[in-house]
Amino acid sequence: MKKVKVGIIGCGNSSPQYLKNTKPYSILEIAAVADAMPERAKARAQEFGVPRVLTVKEMLADPSIQVICNLTTPLSHAQINLAAIKAGKSVYVEKPLAVNRADGRKTVAAAKKRGVRVGCAPDTFLGGGIQTSRKLIDDGWIGQPVAATAFFTCRGHERWHPDPEFYYQVGGGPMLDMGPYYLTALVNLLGPVKRVSGSVRTTFPERTITSAGKFGQKIKVEVPTHVAGTLEFACGAIGTIVTSFDVWNANLPRIEIHGTEGSLSVPDPNGFGGEVKFCRAWAKEFATVPHTHSTEVGRGIGIADLAYGLVFGRPHRANGDLANHVLDVMFAFEESSRTGRHVAITTTCDRPAALPVGLIAGQLDE
Ligand SMILES: NC(=O)c1ccc[n+]([C@@H]2O[C@H](COP(=O)([O-])OP(=O)(O)OC[C@H]3O[C@@H](n4cnc5c(N)ncnc54)[C@H](O)[C@@H]3O)[C@@H](O)[C@H]2O)c1
Repeated sequence: MKKVKVGIIGCGNSSPQYLKNTKPYSILEIAAVADAMPERAKARAQEFGVPRVLTVKEMLADPSIQVICNLTTPLSHAQINLAAIKAGKSVYVEKPLAVNRADGRKTVAAAKKRGVRVGCAPDTFLGGGIQTSRKLIDDGWIGQPVAATAFFTCRGHERWHPDPEFYYQVGGGPMLDMGPYYLTALVNLLGPVKRVSGSVRTTFPERTITSAGKFGQKIKVEVPTHVAGTLEFACGAIGTIVTSFDVWNANLPRIEIHGTEGSLSVPDPNGFGGEVKFCRAWAKEFATVPHTHSTEVGRGIGIADLAYGLVFGRPHRANGDLANHVLDVMFAFEESSRTGRHVAITTTCDRPAALPVGLIAGQLDE
């Protein structure tokens, strides 16, 4: 089969996962890497055997590269995506799709006009944890979904990330950083959201980096760091979500879906596996459900799915409409908090097709 050539832009902390996890997919060839800091691109190329190190300009001008994998920090997402689309390339970008709604809309519209594709992380919903949960819901195990809860709390990424500043700048914060995992999982499980309310706060105006390298340096916080919200899904279910960089410790579940016939405990959506647990009506305890789909996949399955979509002319799952809907919802919490009103969600998307049961790592359509 003809390989789809991919160029990676952004060779920082998240890039090794892509360079490693795309290897099992025979459809993908990581043809080149680029970074504003060329020494980073060189180092990654050497480590993972990528044949070419290019500048961003050279990569966008290279007609053999069909897909750009954009792993830059959020403020650069839209700019790189739009340049790649203009150059006639499909893009797959790390989350969030953009740092404001207008850029998200613009990106999706530009790709449709140019006849290329937008893919966007997270692709964790393609792992066995969320796909098994999806199958249970689709097969009717919990009956009609009634409620969903989703909780992500921590005390911030400045404790481990070597360059954590972007988490506190426009485009950062717990909702834009971690919300995509939770909301993409929820939309995959329950469908699109039609109305949102929210309350947000910025607890600490300044943060101190305690990871190595920049230990002791201060970060000015530009974004809300505690976001609480409700979600009304088009299917009628009501969700509750909290994302926070202000919480030292918690005993909260990640995601639960409660239905008319039972309850489902969904594993961490920032991963591909995790225990799926189900409690049927009248039962006292949750019981573990075996995975119906492989958990032996990683960040990269979404870009492989996009490549298969290109070759076979079928939709890809971690797509621009889904990411743009999630982006719209994420901004609605802050808007609701600011205006004191519910926010109607004007974007929508289809639930991505469930993965067929029994796929193993490295296989999608082969
Ligand atoms: N760190 C993680 O574990 C992780 C996990 C999942 C997702 N992500 C997401 O991945 C993205 C990148 O995060 P990261 O942690 O790898 O950041 P990082 O700061 O470690 O790396 C980003 C890289 O992009 C380069 N870059 C930035 N703007 C550029 C531009 N305009 N042109 C060329 N290169 C540019 C930087 O020089 C840097 O090397 C973010 O969207 C983040 O949300 C990160």
